[in-house]
Amino acid sequence: MAESMDPLTLYQAASEYLEIAAMESQKQANVDIGLMQTNISLAHDLICQIHSVETDPLIIGALNQLSTVLLYQQETLLIKIRQLDRQAGSSSSNDSMELIGVQKNDQGDMQKKARRQAIEETIALKGQFCFNDVAGLEEAKQALREAIIMPVQFPQLFTGGRKPWQRILLYGPPGTGKSRLAQAVSSEIRSNFYSVSSSDLISSWVGESEKLIKELFQHATSQEGRSVVFIDEIDSVCRKRSSHEEEHTRRVKTELLKQMEGADSSGSSDRIFLLCATNCPWELDPAFLRRFQKRIYIPLPDVEARHALMRLHCQGNDVQLSDEDWLLLAQKTEGFSGSDLATLVNAALFEPVRDLQGTDSWIQTPDGLFIPCHGDNPLSITANINELPPERVQVRGVCVQDFLKSLVSNRKTVMQEELIRFAQFTNSFGQHG
Ligand SMILES: Nc1ncnc2c1ncn2[C@@H]1O[C@H](COP(=O)(O)OP(=O)(O)OP(=O)(O)O)[C@@H](O)[C@H]1O
Ligand SMILES: [Mg+2]
Repeated sequence: MAESMDPLTLYQAASEYLEIAAMESQKQANVDIGLMQTNISLAHDLICQIHSVETDPLIIGALNQLSTVLLYQQETLLIKIRQLDRQAGSSSSNDSMELIGVQKNDQGDMQKKARRQAIEETIALKGQFCFNDVAGLEEAKQALREAIIMPVQFPQLFTGGRKPWQRILLYGPPGTGKSRLAQAVSSEIRSNFYSVSSSDLISSWVGESEKLIKELFQHATSQEGRSVVFIDEIDSVCRKRSSHEEEHTRRVKTELLKQMEGADSSGSSDRIFLLCATNCPWELDPAFLRRFQKRIYIPLPDVEARHALMRLHCQGNDVQLSDEDWLLLAQKTEGFSGSDLATLVNAALFEPVRDLQGTDSWIQTPDGLFIPCHGDNPLSITANINELPPERVQVRGVCVQDFLKSLVSNRKTVMQEELIRFAQFTNSFGQHG
């Protein structure tokens, strides 16, 4: 019946169920906890139906969140019902035991639903970044094109002995664009891209983690074409084994290894591509390290990439720098990572805004905007910023001095010792990106 309803009617019905549950929860006595649970469950079913017909990604995101909250509320209520049931008659009837049995199944189903939803949420929305938004890293881009994009685009080329790469590890100092590069891959392919952060795997789904990994790989294998699974910050799950290793980390690791092996042996290897990123590859368990066919070093940007990166971060702002200025800045930022440069540029872009407070000379543009200027300008107007109409206040363009000022307080964050360590690792295990 509900299938034929339009989304608005479904929204209304869902909110009525939630209202009943909310009213019940506000009662001081005789709370019908079963009624609350049933209404939340009904509302959740409707939310799932709306989800299946909704196309707006923002609304889908909100529905996903709402659905997760409702699942957890249901779970909490079921636990509470079980507790009350136990208190009411621990010695007692088969009825209550049956009820508990039913609830256990319900709970299992709900967890399964929650896991499925969590997996679906890892499927990256396309279009946030593309390869052009990643400066430099040409070799890494080339390797990823060959490994992921080409096999999806031209499956007919990868037959017989010519098999596409299955697993690539990106490693390098913090802030060099590893995560951004992976996000860019997701925009370049049409197949599913699962983007998982390993800290999510551990903290959000304790006890459920290994099931989640298993189902994630199953979900990925069941899709048409070749899916990409990206696990960011893989070091937090795949550290070298140690005696004080946490139990759940160990289980996640074992499951992940099993899935990697399963993919090798079951012939599903060409259905999943695994991409991982880390900034401490030496911490990884050798069993994992060995399974990556390519380990690509994502280094600090060179002079050209620094130039490109700074320009990229200035996009959309009025920046008045000559080619010589850019070159000077690119030279002065030796050793900066991509994110150090992003911070530097941000600070420089902010300088004109900071200037506004101390300015009392303004020039008015033909379209009525006020821009700060030198007091000796014959056309200048003297005023405090608070005396001007706020919507008419504009900043001056950003100049090289703003960058030089920003360079004084924003320094590089990657230390030389760390770079030496990366160079040693690359010599033994890696490949330059
Ligand atoms: N090559 C690049 N091209 C464009 N932006 C970059 C690049 N490298 C770094 N950045 C900038 O730095 C920020 C951090 O990049 P990102 O998160 O991809 O780094 P990371 O290598 O994954 O770092 P971590 O190892 O700490 O996770 C990005 O949001 C982006 O602004
Ligand atoms: Mg990252």
